[in-house]
Amino acid sequence: MDSRDLLQATVDLLVQPGKGILAADESGPTIAKRFKAVGVESTDENRRAYRHLLLATPGLSAYISGVILYEETLMQRADDSSPLPELATRQGLVPGIKVDAGKIPLALAPGDEITQGLDGLAKRLAAYKEHGARFAKWRAVYNVSDTLPSRLAIEANADALARYAAICQEEAVVPIVEPEVLMDGGHTLERCAEATEAVLHEVFDALHRHRVVLEHMLLKPSMVVAGKAQARQALATEVAAQTVRVLRRRVPAAVPGIFFLSGGQTPAEASAHLDAMNRLGPHPWALSFSFGRALQDPVLHAWQGQAANTRSAQEALLERARLNSAAREGRYDPTMEGVSARTSARA
Ligand code: 13P
Repeated sequence: MDSRDLLQATVDLLVQPGKGILAADESGPTIAKRFKAVGVESTDENRRAYRHLLLATPGLSAYISGVILYEETLMQRADDSSPLPELATRQGLVPGIKVDAGKIPLALAPGDEITQGLDGLAKRLAAYKEHGARFAKWRAVYNVSDTLPSRLAIEANADALARYAAICQEEAVVPIVEPEVLMDGGHTLERCAEATEAVLHEVFDALHRHRVVLEHMLLKPSMVVAGKAQARQALATEVAAQTVRVLRRRVPAAVPGIFFLSGGQTPAEASAHLDAMNRLGPHPWALSFSFGRALQDPVLHAWQGQAANTRSAQEALLERARLNSAAREGRYDPTMEGVSARTSARA
């Protein structure tokens, strides 16, 4: 298969009706934080066991098309000693890989951050491909205040995202471009909309300058929501209207899919927001999910590091995936949460 056909085939596998992506690519410090919240120590074996649990969930591919892994997981093995990416593929999940090296303060720009990891990226991608990765992810983050993100941060991060995406496409790996406008702070929904629009405008300008083929990438944005410390939290219909308005203004119709991050929303909020957006369709792009916390929080709470809890943890993942699959089609209802809670209480 030539490189263009491979990119298209990967996009077609990832963007399927009723399916989203599971983000399970937490870095060492982040997974340690998530484990600590449920009293689990972050050892190599605990991380392996947990990621194995996620990938081995029976029936997950009915709702999940791909899974984003951290480099460590790509190299780890399943209980039957086959590599974990092979287990994912056997389960009908396309393996992907987080390739950025995290964020640092942007020099001479107080409050802004920049994502690093471009040096040697082409070589690393070639190695990740050998281990089965077919798509990649790079996350840029933007802090919001009255003055942040600065023009400098918007431009520098857009350029890094576009260079990353171009390198991926040259290696026949589908890039997920993730500009995350953070929920931290007291900003309003309107301020988030303004910042998100400026960020997306610059990202697509940079993607164009770097010759990235829009048909062969996916966008993973944050939703337009008020800051966590903002007293007035918007209704799901307001979040949906503002998010869709910004996307329609700034994301070309050639982009096949927009897979949202959850960014600190509760699982039910993230599902309700995604559902409300899909009810405003039809849209030129698929609107789906690539949640980390909003898929995994109930799983971690059910698991608690105990092998005996594996089954209930997998059921929690399957349930969350099913609810988000419904939201991806505009068929979610908050009352479905009640039904699932009652069902799992009975189980
Ligand atoms: P959250 O959905 O928890 O924001 O994680 C998604 C992700 O991949 C962040 O980079």
